[in-house]
Amino acid sequence: MKLLLLGDVVGRTGRDAVVAALPGLRARLQADFVAVNAENASHGFGLAPEMAAAIFAAGADVITLGNHAWDRKEIIPYIVHEPRLIRPLNFPPGTPGAGAAVCTLADGRKVLIAQAMGRLFMDPLDDPFRAVEELLLRNKLGVNVQAAVIDIHAEASSEKMAFGHAFDGRVSAVVGTHTHVPTADHQILPGGTGFVSDLGMCGDYDSVIGMTKEPAIARFVKKMPGEKLAPAEGPATICGVFIETDEMGLAIRIEPVRTGGRLALAMPG
Ligand SMILES: [Fe+2]
Ligand SMILES: [Fe+2]
Repeated sequence: MKLLLLGDVVGRTGRDAVVAALPGLRARLQADFVAVNAENASHGFGLAPEMAAAIFAAGADVITLGNHAWDRKEIIPYIVHEPRLIRPLNFPPGTPGAGAAVCTLADGRKVLIAQAMGRLFMDPLDDPFRAVEELLLRNKLGVNVQAAVIDIHAEASSEKMAFGHAFDGRVSAVVGTHTHVPTADHQILPGGTGFVSDLGMCGDYDSVIGMTKEPAIARFVKKMPGEKLAPAEGPATICGVFIETDEMGLAIRIEPVRTGGRLALAMPG
């Protein structure tokens, strides 16, 4: 199975780039399954329903969120009725929406996707490791799902790497989101799980993690309330990884995808 996983879409430039490029990218890579993180799609904070609909229409099978899940409150009634949109699995019991989804492809194969949120330098939450352990009790790779993808939305690379190794051999891929910088550690772990610490963002890299530079610098320099952060609006680089799995659901190939904007092109050949 061929999986295309894209990192945090930031603002209008990120949204427009993903919506414009995804149909072609999906066809070119012959992707069977596409997941996009869109927690920052709405002006850097949250996701509005019409934006989710546009990303789905462009070819995303699933959209994941993160710590910015509820920044646009209109998404709360939307997520209740949209199982293809998921928020962190380890949010408290009773939180609207789901933290995992099982997608059935046109040929009947099933893909499990879940998002877990880290706890290091993040809001206090239930244990993301235990949440995924419990999820995998009900979803066995190669048995009732043919692929399984975990989006680990976390700040610390240590926690993300630990997460990858904890589930190595039991899922097809563990991919990091949230830091908005693509990492060069994409690899197949010894047990067969495709891993990358962070997919990077789909946004303008002439910025501070997608937001305009001056107000972002001022926040570090002055101890005073400053200009509100807003997304940078230059050309976006679409960032993510492409993963191919075998008949057991384990990764046999992982390659970076980067196209457009300022970052060097990376495209699976
Ligand atoms: Fe983000
Ligand atoms: Fe985040």
